Amino acid sequence: MRLFACILLYAGSLIVLPANGFAASHLDKFNLPRECATCHYKSNLRGGGGTEGCITCHGNPQRRVDNKKMPPGSIVNKSGMLNIEAEFFKTYRHPTFDSPGRHRYSETLPETDPKALRHADCVDCHNPHYVSKENKFAGIRAKRVVNQLTDVTRETDMCYRCHGDSANLPGKYTNKRIEFLLTNPSFHPVEGEGRNLSVISLVRPYREKKIDSADISTILCSDCHGNDDAKGPKGVHGSRNQYILVDNYNTADNIFESPQAFALCYRCHSRASILGNESFRYHSLHIQGSSIQKLGTSCFTCHNSHGSTEYKYLIKFNPLVVSPNSKGLLKYVEKGSAKFSGECYLKCHGVDHDPKSY
Ligand code: HEC
Ligand code: HEC
Ligand code: HEC
Ligand code: HEC
Ligand code: HEC
Ligand code: HEC
Ligand code: HEC
Repeated sequence: MRLFACILLYAGSLIVLPANGFAASHLDKFNLPRECATCHYKSNLRGGGGTEGCITCHGNPQRRVDNKKMPPGSIVNKSGMLNIEAEFFKTYRHPTFDSPGRHRYSETLPETDPKALRHADCVDCHNPHYVSKENKFAGIRAKRVVNQLTDVTRETDMCYRCHGDSANLPGKYTNKRIEFLLTNPSFHPVEGEGRNLSVISLVRPYREKKIDSADISTILCSDCHGNDDAKGPKGVHGSRNQYILVDNYNTADNIFESPQAFALCYRCHSRASILGNESFRYHSLHIQGSSIQKLGTSCFTCHNSHGSTEYKYLIKFNPLVVSPNSKGLLKYVEKGSAKFSGECYLKCHGVDHDPKSY
């Protein structure tokens, strides 16, 4: 392995490689014997153009055999190369191959132009010059403070480049950076430890606060979003599960509860505890339905998966299922966390809650 720490003048541009101290995978002669010339062959890449080049090596192995994009001798026959291309054939995926040709080398994210076309090329998440075994986001830059570019050091900051303060965020989506703010009444503990000290359903090693070294009290986007196949390549490329989730999560109403229906949540929250009503006394009634009519509703009807800017316990009612009550009220009132009690003002399945208390 060679460590690059040099400044190169290449095709008239100044490029500093690499700043983070890890051996960049693509600048290792053992991986890419032709180094820069491997990808910079007969053309400049100022218009982007990463994706096709990337899958020459990270796609279907036959592409390495058929290669015409790269100069002779540039591809070593390395065993164990993962087929990332195949991940993008799955139903739920980043639009890397669905909306090609939109990335620009000079762009800065989050996007400030509301009309800019949404995209996610390989090079939007991985910088080919810096990417290393230790840090797959090395060299990716994002605007934190207005117009000031800084290196992304955490996965979340990489995601917020497009799912945070982007001016071109499609209307049906929300700003994830805001949903995870530590000042919200509740949030999944991604930015820091959570606020709720008695999340009774948590399965070890997950815990509200870290006490023992084995405890896990903060999680990542990638604990929920990523490959459905745990043995396949890591990363939020594609999944058989909706919303590119690592496990199934049914968000519909009028459904049968099963370990599979809410498998994602049951990874960290005990199904027995939730359905045993250890916290919310009417969890089972809503999730499994009554003993006669065994149809229930999804966690999604009452909980947001990221955070709630309004209420505790990630409460955010799904407007497709829940509507204002007969007095026009739609709200949740919490009555002290130690007692697990509260009030709901809403209408659902024709049942008026004005309020209903627990
Ligand atoms: C000429 C072949 C080749 C091309 C082209 C190529 N890579 Fe790689 N890449 C490699 C090799 C070899 C490694 C070393 C790790 C391995 O064996 O999988 C690697 C590693 C990586 C890693 C993981 C870091 C690690 O070492 O685990 C990422 C992410 C990556 N490449 C992304 C890209 C992207 C994005 C592009 C396109 C801009 C690209 N690669 C183009 C050969 C290539
Ligand atoms: C694994 C493929 C790969 C390797 C190896 C690679 N680059 Fe690049 N390079 C790219 C891609 C892809 C882009 C466009 C990135 C973007 O749009 O964000 C790029 C962009 C650039 C640019 C700006 C655009 C242009 O074409 O002028 C420069 C300069 C550059 N690379 C220099 C280098 C140098 C110097 C090396 C060797 C030390 C190198 N690159 C090695 C893939 C590679
Ligand atoms: C360069 C931009 C970009 C980055 C960085 C990015 N995404 Fe995306 N993502 C998109 C685009 C574009 C879509 C398609 C829908 C849209 O326009 O928002 C998408 C879709 C998704 C979806 C599916 C949404 C749905 O309705 O099915 C999820 C989940 C997601 N991204 C999570 C992540 C996570 C987690 C990260 C960080 C590891 C991340 N994204 C990083 C651009 C990006
Ligand atoms: C990777 C583990 C993990 C997964 C998956 C997960 N959670 Fe959590 N969840 C946690 C942790 C850790 C906490 C504790 C946060 C705290 O102490 O405030 C938590 C807390 C909660 C809370 C209480 C938040 C509060 O502030 O009162 C709710 C509600 C919740 N999760 C619902 C869900 C639902 C619904 C799903 C499935 C969509 C889910 N969780 C999936 C780890 C997870
Ligand atoms: C505890 C699990 C969990 C974590 C952690 C998590 N997500 Fe999600 N995410 C979900 C679930 C479940 C859905 C689908 C249902 C929904 O929208 O609530 C979803 C939906 C999405 C969507 C598409 C729909 C929408 O609401 O915009 C995007 C984009 C997304 N997540 C991005 C992220 C990013 C970025 C992070 C990290 C900063 C993250 N998620 C962390 C579980 C999670
Ligand atoms: C939306 C962001 C995003 C896009 C687009 C994206 N990746 Fe990734 N990629 C990730 C994340 C997240 C990981 C997991 C990083 C980690 O291990 O923490 C990853 C991991 C990888 C790895 C290492 C996998 C492993 O198991 O070691 C390779 C190789 C890779 N990506 C190549 C690519 C290539 C090639 C493309 C384009 C065809 C691409 N990625 C597009 C986010 C992305
Ligand atoms: C009808 C609305 C509703 C539905 C549906 C619902 N919940 Fe809840 N949930 C609540 C309320 C209200 C609370 C707050 C209880 C309290 O006062 O502490 C809560 C609390 C929680 C908590 C925090 C306390 C604990 O038990 O650890 C978790 C985790 C949780 N719910 C997970 C889930 C999961 C997972 C599902 C789906 C399988 C689900 N909920 C379905 C209303 C709902």
